[in-house]
Amino acid sequence: MGEYKIAVVAGDGIGPEITAEALKVLEVVGEKFGHKFIFDEVYAGGAAIDKFGEALPEESLNKCKCSDAVLLGAVGGPKWDNMEGSKRPERALLGIRENLGLYVNLRPAIMHKALADACPLKKEITGDSFDIMVVRELTGGIYFGERGYREGKYGNEAFDVETYSEYEIERIARFAFDAAMKRNKNLTSVDKANVLESSRLWRKIVNNVAEEYPEVTLTHMYVDNAAMQLVRNPRQFDVIVTSNMFGDILSDEASQITGSIGMLPSASMGKANPGMYEPIHGSAPDIAGENKANPIATILSVAMMMRYSFSLTKEAEAIEAAVTKVLDKGLRTPDIMSEGMTLVGTKEMGDAICAEF
Ligand code: IPM
Ligand code: MG
Repeated sequence: MGEYKIAVVAGDGIGPEITAEALKVLEVVGEKFGHKFIFDEVYAGGAAIDKFGEALPEESLNKCKCSDAVLLGAVGGPKWDNMEGSKRPERALLGIRENLGLYVNLRPAIMHKALADACPLKKEITGDSFDIMVVRELTGGIYFGERGYREGKYGNEAFDVETYSEYEIERIARFAFDAAMKRNKNLTSVDKANVLESSRLWRKIVNNVAEEYPEVTLTHMYVDNAAMQLVRNPRQFDVIVTSNMFGDILSDEASQITGSIGMLPSASMGKANPGMYEPIHGSAPDIAGENKANPIATILSVAMMMRYSFSLTKEAEAIEAAVTKVLDKGLRTPDIMSEGMTLVGTKEMGDAICAEF
C-alpha cells in the first residue's frame, strides 16, 4: 500500500495519447495492488510555449521536483522548429534532466519473441530474442557543453563542445558496472578514443573503475564499430555504457532492431531527486491525434518507474507480463504490424493491456 505523486508531462504530438494509455495502466495497477497514484498535470515543451510563452516554466519544474516521479510523453514538433535553440521545446526535456540531476539514462532494448517478424534483421542474427541495456550518460557531454557562434577561418561558424569530467565519467561507469553485475557481467564501453580527447579520458576512467569489478568483462569499442556490431551481432552485447550523444544515437538504432522505436522505455535517474520515465521516441507529429501511436514504450516506462523509483517489483513485472501477453495474442499497432496479426489503435492497445490485469 502506498501513495505516489506522479508529475505527468504529456507534452506534444503523440505525447498526450500515449501518456493517457500509461495513466490508464497505472489506475489499474493501483486498484489491483492497492496503491494510490496521484497525477499532477505539468506543462512543458511546445504545449508550455503555447500556453505560457516558455518551454519550461518555473512552476512546471517545481512540480516535477516535488513529485515522487515524472512521466513524460514527448516534446517538440514542426510548429516550434524555427525557434531559437535556447527556447525550443527540447530545452524543457534537457532542463528537467539537468535540474533534477538525472545523469543516468537506462534504455533497455529487448526483443520480444512475439515481435521477431517486426525486426529488420535476419533470424540467424537475432536468434529468438536479445536483451541489451544501454546506460547513457544524460547530463554532460556535448548536450551541455559550451556552445555559440563566432568568427572562424571561413567566416561565421557555430560550435558545440564535448566536455567530460573525471567525476561525471566515474559515476556513470560505476552505475554501469553495478548494472552489469546484476545481469550477465559483460560491459561494453563505447567511445571514440581514436579521435577525441574526452573519449580518451572516458576510457581511462572506465578502466580505473573496472578494477573494482573483477567479475565484469569489460570491452572498449569505438562508436562507429558499435553501430555496425549492433546490426551484425546484437547478441554480443549485455550492458553498453556511453556518452550522452553516442547513447542517443545507439539507443535509436538498438530500438529499431527490437522491432520498433515504439517499444523502448527509458528511466532517467540521479542521486536524490525523483526519476523521470519516458519512451525513447519523439513526438511523431505526422501521426499525432490519429490513434496510431504505439503506447507500449510509455507503458513499459511506467513499469520502470514502479521498479526504480518505488521499488514495486511485482507491479513492474505485472505490467511487463501484460504487455507480453497482448503481443502474444497478436495485437499490433501499425509500427509493429506484420502479416496475420490484428491491427489496433493506441487506445485499443492500452485497453487490451489493462484487461490483462
Ligand atoms: C531522446 C531524444 C532527446 C535527446 C531530444 C528530444 C532532446 O532524442 O531522449 O533520445 O536527444 O536526448
Ligand atoms: Mg533520441
